[in-house]
Amino acid sequence: MTSQNLPGQPHIAYRGNELFSEDVRLSDLVKEHGTPLFVYSKSAMLSALAAYQRGFAGRKVQICYAMKANPALGVIQLFAQAGCGFDIVSGGDMDRVLAAGGQAEKIIFSGVGKTRAEMRRALEAGIGCFNVESEAELEVLSEVALSMGLRAPVSIRVNPNVDPMTHPYISTGLKGNKFGIAHERVVRTYQRAATLAGIRVVGIDCHIGSQITQEEPYLDAMDRMLDLVEAIEAAGIPIQHIDFGGGLGIDYNGDTPPPADRLWEKLLAKLDARGFGQRQLMIEPGRSLVGNAGVCLTEVLYLKPGEQKNFCIIDAAMNDLPRPAMYQAFHQIVPLQSRAEAPATWDVVGPICESGDWIGHDRALAVQPGDLLAVLSAGAYCMSMASNYNSRGRAAEILVEGNQTRLIRQRETIADQMRQEILLLNK
Ligand code: LLP
Repeated sequence: MTSQNLPGQPHIAYRGNELFSEDVRLSDLVKEHGTPLFVYSKSAMLSALAAYQRGFAGRKVQICYAMKANPALGVIQLFAQAGCGFDIVSGGDMDRVLAAGGQAEKIIFSGVGKTRAEMRRALEAGIGCFNVESEAELEVLSEVALSMGLRAPVSIRVNPNVDPMTHPYISTGLKGNKFGIAHERVVRTYQRAATLAGIRVVGIDCHIGSQITQEEPYLDAMDRMLDLVEAIEAAGIPIQHIDFGGGLGIDYNGDTPPPADRLWEKLLAKLDARGFGQRQLMIEPGRSLVGNAGVCLTEVLYLKPGEQKNFCIIDAAMNDLPRPAMYQAFHQIVPLQSRAEAPATWDVVGPICESGDWIGHDRALAVQPGDLLAVLSAGAYCMSMASNYNSRGRAAEILVEGNQTRLIRQRETIADQMRQEILLLNK
């Protein structure tokens, strides 16, 4: 039987005319679990992690998986067992990490709007670092920590004002973004932090954006960060760790981001050249660890050929796969069982009552109602951004390992959805 890998998707391949993830025939999973269904490959996640680990061989680094990309407990557990820490953005994220066996001291807490309650709980749990994003937050964190008789470990998130050359919604390190503290104010903020009794300065942090496919923005951001570390230390405040955030892109449609090990070879060469090679480093990758490990399986419900457009209506929608609607993002769409017929051009759309509910425009597909399709590169920022719009339950999730499969999240029922709601008393 011939085996044919799909570009950018090392873990999925056609064997004959059937699509497999690792050694699992995807159409078998649909028979058992229905659609829409997310399927993640364990070996794809671990090999993405291994690329970073290779890149950092011999260095002091803590890889903190940015769990916003995919916060399934099973996925967190996998990365915790592989030694990762976690980048979190809420108390809920922290609870997930702890529930999945992650270590509190390997958690870093990012985000512009941490509440006092979240700060208190994170201090109680003993997390590794708060990445503080404003001067106001710094004051509040100090107050909260002091009230508990503690000192909060802190990095200041720097906004280095570099253009990551990505979609405006996912670029975060530019002056006009809400994230981090402006480059010019950073030294002053560290000086203030050093005077606050509830704060212990441990590091410095930046994150410039997501789906970055070029090296230059990282190299620029690194130079700016190191300039700052020099200035902060010259002011007498030692910096133990340097956190370069996440953001490395994946191949959705012929994108060519540098492989993690190659990118870090260059970045480490710069660190060495500037004398920072032996510092404790941290990174916060999300998408690059899980994005191309996942697919979303869906069934073709109806074909609706038209004068201007042909619509292929599937049972997955923008509530399952919000990236096309939100960022005009491209995800490849391929059949689970390829057909010999010539393809036609289809707009692949979901059942939700919005014109924005599209998954792919102008796709060449040979399809019939009842066929199964896979939406590729669906491991990151799909389930994590899924919603219940139109009372649609969230999909089930499966982790594949070799020929073994494990259900890691059950399909959400309508009873699950209505559980939190309360009817009016008067009938
Ligand atoms: N660290 C911080 C502080 C972040 O804000 C993010 C992502 C990451 C790390 C991880 O970035 P990654 O390695 O995954 O690029 N929903 C959008 C992406 C939003 C990214 C938000 N922050 C999308 O679907 O493209």
